[in-house]
Amino acid sequence: MDVRILDTADQIAVAAGELFVRQIKTNPQTILGLATGASPVKMYQYLISQYRNGYLDFSKVKTYNLDEYCDLPRDDKNSYYTFMHENLFNHINIKEENVHLPNGNAPDMAAECASYDKMIADIGGVDIQLLGIGTNGHIGFNEPADTFTEGTYKVKLTDSTIKSNSIYFDEGAMPRFAVTMGVGTIMTAKKIVLIATGESKQNAVYAMVRGEVTPHCPASILQQHPDAVIFADRAAAAKLL
Ligand code: F6R
Repeated sequence: MDVRILDTADQIAVAAGELFVRQIKTNPQTILGLATGASPVKMYQYLISQYRNGYLDFSKVKTYNLDEYCDLPRDDKNSYYTFMHENLFNHINIKEENVHLPNGNAPDMAAECASYDKMIADIGGVDIQLLGIGTNGHIGFNEPADTFTEGTYKVKLTDSTIKSNSIYFDEGAMPRFAVTMGVGTIMTAKKIVLIATGESKQNAVYAMVRGEVTPHCPASILQQHPDAVIFADRAAAAKLL
């Protein structure tokens, strides 16, 4: 695990963004694994600025997102599909057919999950996977549990996730299920970049980096990944210092 502690979220956006820039410059047909939430937003803005400067070309890039809510229309204002378009895809020259998120409304979820993993495997796997981390150590929607999850699956959201994400939804509208890459799927990425900022991530970052590898902190599995880079600001890294 390569832990890089920087002063601010803005510095992380550039440093993490540069890893993506270099990857896309080296291989214009890069397969990106992407995340939603607050953590990647500034990095997406950095990638957009590099595109606008004429420095980056996304025309051959393919993306696979970590997760999506179930039972929410794809273009709902809170869907991850909408989030990704508003925060990245609408501002770069990526082709819509190269953008992938799991379909949280698929009639046969087991088939949808199997086909998502197969699609990723068939194209040779994700080259660089972006992650955030939950305050409880979750990655994607993989919550603390007794065993590590494997492939993409439909998950019942925990009370704590429902509580933290329901601020975005009208009362009673927060979905109860989501579809997420499993920990096993995430670990197949050739390179993983995780961004953690803010004091609320302190305990999770400490457990991920210094704790034992345990499904009770799903992010701790990244200790076993051959190329995982963790970017934390001083607040998130406070317990490591
Ligand atoms: C997002 C995702 C989640 C978030 C995590 C951190 O696609 O899968 O695991 O990365 O909940 O969220 P933020 O960045 O909002 O603190």
